[in-house]
Amino acid sequence: MEKHQVHDATLTDYADPQIDQLLKYSVRNQLESLLKAKLTTTQRQQALTQSFVDAMTLVLSTEPVQHAQLTAAFEAMYEHAVQSMAMAELSEELLTRQYISATGLIMSPLNCRHTIKDIYRIQGYVKGIDKAVRAMASRKEKLTILYPACGPFAPLLLPLLSYYKQHQYFDEKQLQVILVDLQPGAVQSLRQLVSDLNLQDYISEITEQDATTYEPKESIDLLVLEAMQHGFTKEGQLSIARHLVKYLTIDGWMIPQSVSIRGMMVLGETEFNQQWKQAEYSHSKNRHRAALDDRVELGELLHIDKSSLLKMEEITLADEAKVIPANQIILPTDVHDMSKRILAIYAHITTFAEEQVDQYDSGITHPRPDMTFYVDTRPQDVEHTHFVANSGDTVQFYYQLSGLPGFVPTKV
Ligand SMILES: C[S@@+](CC[C@H](N)C(=O)[O-])C[C@H]1O[C@@H](n2cnc3c(N)ncnc32)[C@H](O)[C@@H]1O
Repeated sequence: MEKHQVHDATLTDYADPQIDQLLKYSVRNQLESLLKAKLTTTQRQQALTQSFVDAMTLVLSTEPVQHAQLTAAFEAMYEHAVQSMAMAELSEELLTRQYISATGLIMSPLNCRHTIKDIYRIQGYVKGIDKAVRAMASRKEKLTILYPACGPFAPLLLPLLSYYKQHQYFDEKQLQVILVDLQPGAVQSLRQLVSDLNLQDYISEITEQDATTYEPKESIDLLVLEAMQHGFTKEGQLSIARHLVKYLTIDGWMIPQSVSIRGMMVLGETEFNQQWKQAEYSHSKNRHRAALDDRVELGELLHIDKSSLLKMEEITLADEAKVIPANQIILPTDVHDMSKRILAIYAHITTFAEEQVDQYDSGITHPRPDMTFYVDTRPQDVEHTHFVANSGDTVQFYYQLSGLPGFVPTKV
């Protein structure tokens, strides 16, 4: 759940004393870790690389690995990455700048640093990328991989490249990676990290650009993208994917291969509280049978893959707002307690082949309650943001492409 917690910060939050505290904590943390580690540059770089390789060894292991072991390995990777970020000497402005662009939230490098600890998201992606690279490398001499919105640590690829390099699985003649991020602070950190990991030969370009308009100079074999938040809101995954999918070779793959966004009507207390009382940590395998049986699934709202992205049509409304038509669902009539239920929207991610990021494995697949969607009941004061419907109604969903992307339900 790490990711969606940090994701909820906005630019205005920096006036908030709690966030100022976070910044102080982070800077102090970085300074302390530098002091603590009285290492030479070479020793620091070796320890960094080893922490990346160790985390990947566990993630790719075919033997069962304990959660505690993974947590320790990812924490070590995080600490070393933060140390490298400290060496990049970002100004406070570059570290904390966060804003809403025309297509979504542009998170600050300070907040993005946590995504390297999002264990099961990284595992789902890395296992998928590894399978895709191996499958493609068996029929192609050189693969070009594009990773837009990669953040300051590019955590879905840099650890895997370190692992490939150490084991001599793939060299720089076989794999070339382009890293794109809009934040100058993320780019500065990336340059430091790539150099610390001695991965320069694998990286053809690190570029500070908007991924929704960036035009790669060569065709792309693998597009690795994760710019999502829970409920498929806030970040610009869809806008970035729609733009960049055009640059994939005819047999190129997008990772994730598919994202299925689905809706369900749940009792908030059962789904979000009772279900997790005994759970050691948030993960799809720790979901509770009774809570799963209690859900009322509404079906798929939107399916995103290479072919659906290429076909997707955009509608521009009178006020210039742009939307993508999503699916229609029919609200079931046989649910006795529908008026007590809330809509929760969640993503199911297939990264490649059978590799997945399932519900609750990460903040990005955590079901997001929508408190503006009412069925068989009405809010006391109806506001324009509320949607009020009855069991049996047909609801057409649209996906709004804006600085705050998300689903908009309408009654048919
Ligand atoms: C949550 S962080 C990094 C997530 C990263 N993909 C990962 O797997 O951990 C989000 C990053 O995406 C970048 N970003 C968001 N929208 C972007 C866009 N349209 N173009 C380029 N970078 C973007 C932000 O600048 C930020 O560094």
